[in-house]
Amino acid sequence: MTFTVAIDGPAAAGKGTISKAVAAHFGFAHLDTGLLYRAVGAKVLAGGDPVVAAKALTPADMEGDLRTPEVAQAASRVAVLPDVRAALVAFQRSFAVQDGGAVLDGRDIGTVICPEAQVKLFVTASADVRAERRFLELSEKGLSDTREQVLADVVARDKRDSERAEAPLKPAADAVIIDTSDLSIAEAVARAVQEIENRR
Ligand code: DC
Repeated sequence: MTFTVAIDGPAAAGKGTISKAVAAHFGFAHLDTGLLYRAVGAKVLAGGDPVVAAKALTPADMEGDLRTPEVAQAASRVAVLPDVRAALVAFQRSFAVQDGGAVLDGRDIGTVICPEAQVKLFVTASADVRAERRFLELSEKGLSDTREQVLADVVARDKRDSERAEAPLKPAADAVIIDTSDLSIAEAVARAVQEIENRR
């Protein structure tokens, strides 16, 4: 039986952490769809063509360090292109309907990729809280961006992701909003698990 959980939201709101935790809790497969766009962004930074890269994407392209601010911005820029998005749809949809259940996190999962998902969550938090979390994450990795740079990056990416014509970042009409600004990781995961339990 297939069961799909769609988790969308802006950068650094906690989607990834929540998605991994609920996938482990329920034994579902997990796809971080941002990695697809990041892999295409990285290819473009290396001089490639975005549409060619999206059409030829392989699992090997998803390895390596794609979690840098440069790759994040490049991902957000290629994600505006309808042909890039179109090239990535079939893989995401087939992942979503596998036996045993799947969690997909991204920006357009509940609205475009899996409008039939049994559970749709929109995970968000204030820009300041998200920037602080991302700043701590990047500092731990030894990257030297300042708090101000990280906040500016997050805000620029959200603006581009929300204002694009194709599959913009927005909650599906039937999504449950989880604002993690004042929640611990454990509290946010518990909220998500509860929403999924309610619909199983
Ligand atoms: O989730 P992330 O921060 O790794 O995503 C990187 C960029 O990829 C994000 O700024 C916009 C794009 N993206 C998208 O357009 N649609 C998705 N489903 C996932 C990511």
